[in-house]
Amino acid sequence: MGQEDVWALNGVTLQVKKGEFVAIMGHSGSGKSTLLNVLGCLDVPTSGRYILDGTPVAGMNRAALARVRNQKIGFVFQSFNLLSRTTARENVELPMLYNPTAPRGKALHDRAEYLLEHVGLGDRMLHTPGQLSGGQQQRVAIARALMNNPPLLLADEPTGNLDSHASQEIMHYFRKLNEQGQTIVMVTHETDIAAYAKRKIVMRDGKVLP
Ligand SMILES: Nc1ncnc2c1ncn2[C@@H]1O[C@H](COP(=O)(O)OP(=O)(O)O)[C@@H](O)[C@H]1O
Ligand SMILES: [Mg+2]
Repeated sequence: MGQEDVWALNGVTLQVKKGEFVAIMGHSGSGKSTLLNVLGCLDVPTSGRYILDGTPVAGMNRAALARVRNQKIGFVFQSFNLLSRTTARENVELPMLYNPTAPRGKALHDRAEYLLEHVGLGDRMLHTPGQLSGGQQQRVAIARALMNNPPLLLADEPTGNLDSHASQEIMHYFRKLNEQGQTIVMVTHETDIAAYAKRKIVMRDGKVLP
């Protein structure tokens, strides 16, 4: 920030194993989103190493990072980030459209429909986001995040815009996915949401508390 360096993260060492479900907790400004953005290859640390699914990420160019994000990571955001003029099914198909080696046509539709049925939206495939509740929109976003079958699912305050009923519903679904083997790292500042994770890490001033 101008002349002043902000240490959003400072000396973070963290290992997440395949199949884990980790909640990152901490007060506002503690560095949770920055850490998640580094894990998601949206942000590159000034120094240090990050090895994702066995591959060192440091030094990759923009195109390689984009490919890693598309194929290795599924993102779920607080504000859903769906395309508003586009149907649920088209939103879910999007990550595969950016994957040049992925199937097209019927196989693409079939995969999106399978995932939407999996999140209980089999009867809402042609609805646009405005025709869906918040909880339903977040379930579309989860189906989208899983489209390329990524080894890592990242979620930044996934229930932050949902009422408590929809929040529980989304967390039940996260737990189910994790039980099926999906690795999940989720940021939340709510203890009852973090309780769904198997491991909690707490951040303060850019560091992971011991
Ligand atoms: N792009 C940026 N430029 C300068 N400071 C930033 C930037 N992004 C985040 N920060 C600062 O880094 C710290 C951590 O931010 P963030 O990771 O967003 O925290 P959290 O998600 O825990 O609320 C905060 O002090 C924030 O103000
Ligand atoms: Mg944040």
